[in-house]
Amino acid sequence: MDLENLEGVGPATKHKLVNAGIRSILDIAIRSPQELAGAIGIDLNRAYKLYNKARLKLVEMGKLDAGFVPAIEYYKKRMTIERITTGSKNFDKLLGGGIETQSVTEVYGEYGSGKTQLCMTLCVTVQLPRDKGGLEAKAIYIDTEGTFRPERVAEIAEARGLDPKEALANIIYAKAYNSAHQELLVSEVGSLMEKDGYKLLVVDSAVAHYRAEFLGRGTLADRQQRLNRFMHMLLRIGEVYNVAVVVTNQVQAAPDVFFGDPSRPTGGHVVAHTSTYRIYLRKAGKNRIARMVDSPCHPEVEVPFTITERGIDDLK
Ligand code: GTP
Ligand code: MG
Repeated sequence: MDLENLEGVGPATKHKLVNAGIRSILDIAIRSPQELAGAIGIDLNRAYKLYNKARLKLVEMGKLDAGFVPAIEYYKKRMTIERITTGSKNFDKLLGGGIETQSVTEVYGEYGSGKTQLCMTLCVTVQLPRDKGGLEAKAIYIDTEGTFRPERVAEIAEARGLDPKEALANIIYAKAYNSAHQELLVSEVGSLMEKDGYKLLVVDSAVAHYRAEFLGRGTLADRQQRLNRFMHMLLRIGEVYNVAVVVTNQVQAAPDVFFGDPSRPTGGHVVAHTSTYRIYLRKAGKNRIARMVDSPCHPEVEVPFTITERGIDDLK
């Protein structure tokens, strides 16, 4: 994965890449050519060449598919998808077994619907042995709202039979102070992921900073473009490193909806179109309800779950 193995790329370019925090071939492949051009100050043409070279190298190494592949190959790749339990059997059933790797799962819902609780639970369950629905792996958590609670994670870990200190040691945490910082953190994720053992990347929330920073109609196009780039980066990370990516999203009232539930996720089409799966959470008295929304391969059904000392849990 070393930049050294990328033939035909001169030392000057390599130096620029390293200075821009792009330390490996995978690091190149998770960025778009446009980003590469901007990051190291080369023209778009050269950036495309560099990008393609990195992708080809990964194909050679068996880390990526080459453009056209027989459907059977794609099927085999899909067979390498792994699943992380949500903590609730019911909820897992809704997802066909749990949160998938190689995908971006968007979780949206109103305040208190359990988005952050789900994220923290997944940071624990990803560490569980495979026969308990985990992947014996670590998690990376990017927090934009400052609502990650290590004490709560420790409680969930203990309730699920893990050593709380060890469980916390297996989670890498970063607080993102604004959208640019959030993008920077995600661009650093690649070099962490290369050291094996990560199977979950959480961004709670993916949209909040963009929403707060780009106010007014005049900035909407810029916001959507930045958000689009961010979401695509997450998708590439999920695919290249075979990790599950979970992002949360708030809902806003849609004043034009008179019947049914007047909540809609923010971020418009961008987040919706980039996410592989979308889950809508809502409160129902003491309990919660999860619904799978526009999935390519799941029926649109609803399941109840609850939040206990074990994090996300089944109703008793
Ligand atoms: P916003 O980030 O505000 O949009 O909300 P959210 O969807 O992230 O909600 P969150 O996951 O923070 O859920 C909050 C709810 O989880 C609370 O209303 C409680 O019902 C429940 N909860 C939070 N902490 C605990 C806890 O330690 N134990 C239990 N049993 N429930 C908890
Ligand atoms: Mg939250």
